[in-house]
Amino acid sequence: MNYRLGVIGYPVKHSLSPWIHNRLLNIADLEGKYNVIEINPDHFSMQLLELKNKKINGFNVTVPYKEKIIPYLDEIDDEARVMGAVNTVLQKNNKWIGFNTDGKGYLRSLENKFPGILKNKMKSILIIGAGGASRGIYYALNSAGFKRIDIANRTLKNAESVVKVKNNQTKSSFLSIKEAESTLDKYEIIIQTTSVGMKPREHETIMKLDQLKPGTIVSDIVYQPIMTSFLQEAKERKASIHLGHSMLLYQAQYAFEIWTKKLVPVDNLNKKLQAILEAK
Ligand code: ATR
Repeated sequence: MNYRLGVIGYPVKHSLSPWIHNRLLNIADLEGKYNVIEINPDHFSMQLLELKNKKINGFNVTVPYKEKIIPYLDEIDDEARVMGAVNTVLQKNNKWIGFNTDGKGYLRSLENKFPGILKNKMKSILIIGAGGASRGIYYALNSAGFKRIDIANRTLKNAESVVKVKNNQTKSSFLSIKEAESTLDKYEIIIQTTSVGMKPREHETIMKLDQLKPGTIVSDIVYQPIMTSFLQEAKERKASIHLGHSMLLYQAQYAFEIWTKKLVPVDNLNKKLQAILEAK
């Protein structure tokens, strides 16, 4: 099988996905190519129909099409439906099936960095932010059975909407950023999911970390820069930090698994991807 894969988006030329997926093809010893497919918003429908005719095996979906793709799908998995966003499409028997790999990808990255972390479900978790990434991560942590996941956000009603999933067994409180800041010592895992701290505003942080306990796991999904000001401060306060680019890598691993049924180890790519991002 000669895999034909790609990513649709606009603009998408600077995507790191071709770098990752072409290496995954190589590591898995599969033939194929992963290409950038830039689609101008003015021609979205037409170019999508053309893509359907090309019968490519699968593709990623990035900004601004993660929601816009949904009416063009034949099926959608539960996670993507709940999130209202699709970042991976599988072509199977001429049908397009939509997935969202963000949450599970994040969980895989966390498990890889902190083996055994999924065993104790009583850990107290704080997610900062209530956008798409927060939703995916909450969904995955909730599905994994974690019992306490609080959400801190600038806009409280957005935080409340994150926990609206079926059969929810998780307890959550909704906090303002200031409230979370003063109770950080309650948490064993803190996950920063907003875009605050991303280049070119890398000196900004979402909150102060004065109350952080040493040994807390602190994660930031921002990966440009790799060492955000938030993570730097957490490190100085003796937290165990988790870098943002590994979510990118593991959600790619999961997407690749959806397309090829192969679970490819990505550990060796982790440092290389970090070096690429550090050089940017
Ligand atoms: P996504 O791509 O994950 O959907 P987004 O829509 O850019 O991300 O932002 C998601 C989160 O970042 C939201 O929680 C947003 O807060 P609001 O719900 O109040 O809008 C948060 N966010 C973005 N910029 C922020 C800022 N400067 N201060 C505080 N929160 C911010």
